[in-house]
Amino acid sequence: MKIIVCVLFSLTLFGCSNAAGKLQQRYSWRQLDWVFPNQQTRDRAVASGDYVPTNGLPVGIERWQNKLFVTVPRWRNGIPAVLNYIDMNRTPSGSPPLIPYPSLENNIAGDCANGLSTVYRIKADKCGRLWVLDTGTVGIGNTTQNVCPYALNVFDLATDRRIRRYEFRPEDTNPNTFIANIAIDIGKNCEDTYAYFSDELGYGLISYSWEQNKSWRFAHSFFFPDPLRGDFNIGGLNFQWGEEGIFGMALSPIKNDGFRTLYFSPLASHREFSVSTKTLRDSTRLEESFHEFTYLPERAGNAHTTSRVMSESGVMLFNLIDQNSVGCWNSATPYEPQNHAIVDRDDEGLVFPADVKIDETNTVWVISDRMPVFLLSELAYNDVNFRIFSAPLDNLLQGTVCAARRPFDAFTTGPVSPRISSTTRTSIPFQYLGDISSESFSSESFSREYPELTTPFFGFASQPAKTNTRPYSTTQVPASSKAYVYNQHNGVSLKTETPTYPDYYPDQHQHHHHHHHQNSYYQPRGSGSSYQKKNDWPQYFY
Ligand SMILES: *[C@@H]1O[C@H](CO)[C@@H](O)[C@H](O)[C@H]1NC(C)=O
Ligand SMILES: *[C@@H]1O[C@H](CO)[C@@H](O)[C@H](O)[C@H]1NC(C)=O
Repeated sequence: MKIIVCVLFSLTLFGCSNAAGKLQQRYSWRQLDWVFPNQQTRDRAVASGDYVPTNGLPVGIERWQNKLFVTVPRWRNGIPAVLNYIDMNRTPSGSPPLIPYPSLENNIAGDCANGLSTVYRIKADKCGRLWVLDTGTVGIGNTTQNVCPYALNVFDLATDRRIRRYEFRPEDTNPNTFIANIAIDIGKNCEDTYAYFSDELGYGLISYSWEQNKSWRFAHSFFFPDPLRGDFNIGGLNFQWGEEGIFGMALSPIKNDGFRTLYFSPLASHREFSVSTKTLRDSTRLEESFHEFTYLPERAGNAHTTSRVMSESGVMLFNLIDQNSVGCWNSATPYEPQNHAIVDRDDEGLVFPADVKIDETNTVWVISDRMPVFLLSELAYNDVNFRIFSAPLDNLLQGTVCAARRPFDAFTTGPVSPRISSTTRTSIPFQYLGDISSESFSSESFSREYPELTTPFFGFASQPAKTNTRPYSTTQVPASSKAYVYNQHNGVSLKTETPTYPDYYPDQHQHHHHHHHQNSYYQPRGSGSSYQKKNDWPQYFY
């Protein structure tokens, strides 16, 4: 896209990619406008405050045939419609006004039965359906009002009619719930479809079965933020999004066992996690499914992501919001930083690449919107703030480690499994020797021992100098994910299969006063060197 792309890419050993192969700008806006039935209606909307041109921020896109959908949440007032599209036949480029979908009347906030209050990311599926989650909210952060319940709306794209509305059960959400991402999992046929919703601030994952028309909610500690990864530097602003949990999700193609893998990452995290849809599709697996969730290595550098998508060929694209870029990973290779690459970067045009999609023709679509500037400061409306780019997937991958090298069948070798065997051992902090807030307390100390973590792949990302000084001694324990047992205070205790360290069971000694399971939970077995989990302990965290 720009000369700088070549320079940066050669620094990171990808070689200099052909700029013509990168993302091409298709649409751009200084501020958003909408198509109204006529000029009079538009004038009235401006006069009444139903349309405030500087209050709209586009956050989600999706392409279906000639329609390019654009969502605009009602974070502020004056948003005429939250679900919209551009007719790409009529306006193949430029700054077109958005057309409300399916109509202006069906976008009224607070009209719970027929309207849409706020919509984030949406998904068009192979069966010609558009999946839209209405969060039922207006406002953002401390201005949020829940004017309607969370409700899934599914539209038939051929007729532009809503064919399903499903209100989430009260148990599917909690007072902190914030859901901005969805993933659609088509199985054997269109009826056999599941939708997954990530609850970023309520820390849950909700499954919905199209066939059964019902939903259920998973809880897991992998949905929590990483307390060391809540600091962000984007668009010249420094801010903390420390509470942000499970956010971006992507589904793999169907694997040999008949199921997909859902990849996800909390927003305040650099780590990738995964779970099979075999688990998510099974409403009887709400409890005792903890170990079905697996974790993969962290991405290198500043690698927060909010949106990701996987192609039919098993290549994942993800936005790198701190790097003004879009990254890739070919799932035929292990999820490791040396197998990640940047497909495009633009420090002007890609500031906050909010959504990434791949359409039926393997064309990649990216929207950038300078979101942190909008939320925390003020956008300059004489400048271009919102852009939509597209490019053929193959062109973006050309020359990167993500380019196809093996057929997708390589999945049979199980690259989705974390590279952790029963013999892998990891270092855990054992005893603190120094000040926990000191500079030498780097996240590296807590990482599993993947050698690549010590050599950041994104060489141009400014990395604090690594230090070997650790303010605590460490001890070696098996690196099985089964080593972790979470208690009901959202705290973590460590359970190992080898002789244990009594200091890691503070709850045994300190929390006698609450949670009836607590005192009986850790049962010394045999010599008292190991502990057994009680079978009746439910896997809920709040
Ligand atoms: C919401 O938070 C912002 C920024 O922290 C603050 O300026 C504002 O006064 C708050 N508004 C309300 C209604 O609490
Ligand atoms: C699905 O469940 C909802 C309850 O939220 C109900 O209103 C709707 O009629 C159901 N739809 C179908 C097709 O069963």
